Amino acid sequence: MFLSEPTKKYKQSFIEAMRETEEESSDPDIHKRITEAEQDFDKYLDGLKEQEKDKNLKPEHVPQTTYWLIDNDEYIGAVRIRHSLNEALMKEGGHIGYDIRPSKRKLGYGSKILELVLPKAKILGITKALLTCNSTNTGSIKIIEKNGGILWDKIPGGVDKPDKLRYWIEIK
Ligand SMILES: CC(C)(COP(=O)(O)OP(=O)(O)OC[C@H]1O[C@@H](n2cnc3c(N)ncnc32)[C@H](O)[C@@H]1OP(=O)(O)O)[C@@H](O)C(=O)NCCC(=O)NCCS
Repeated sequence: MFLSEPTKKYKQSFIEAMRETEEESSDPDIHKRITEAEQDFDKYLDGLKEQEKDKNLKPEHVPQTTYWLIDNDEYIGAVRIRHSLNEALMKEGGHIGYDIRPSKRKLGYGSKILELVLPKAKILGITKALLTCNSTNTGSIKIIEKNGGILWDKIPGGVDKPDKLRYWIEIK
């Protein structure tokens, strides 16, 4: 099991994973994104590469690097490292975000993807990583705490919005 840069090699399982995600997603654009990725995967990959650069970013975005977790030659999940924090990411998103495809959850992959990405974040100069998650996301809370996350604080949610937990992980 390892983290790979996004590559064409895992296109098939990546698209399958996106279809699984679509079933649980409330994102109105996800279907369009899957179709576009399927039709022109090189363009999709170029888009991810572009996010790493400082130029042409939306004002609210910071450079971001994406890795894919691969096991048995299949795409399992994605993890994104935000190279720096802005005001929005301080509240929600933090330095690192991840997701595991629905059919591969509760098998330990979420814990592994965070473990594997921490050294990559360190190479990008992040020695103390901020992670945020909803207080209702038991799986993610366990993943963060298993990987050394120390609870910083809790931002109160609102009507229909859970509290947000903020953790720091010191990367040794
Ligand atoms: C959260 C998520 C990454 C967990 O991935 P995963 O591969 O299932 O995680 P793991 O298998 O490593 O599970 C870690 C622990 O959480 C538990 N867990 C996982 N999902 C759970 C759930 N829905 N409810 C309760 N516990 C859960 C596991 O049993 C495991 O417990 P253990 O350490 O006591 O054995 C995955 O559900 C996901 O991609 N969700 C959508 C995106 C998301 O929420 N990302 C995180 C944003 S902060």
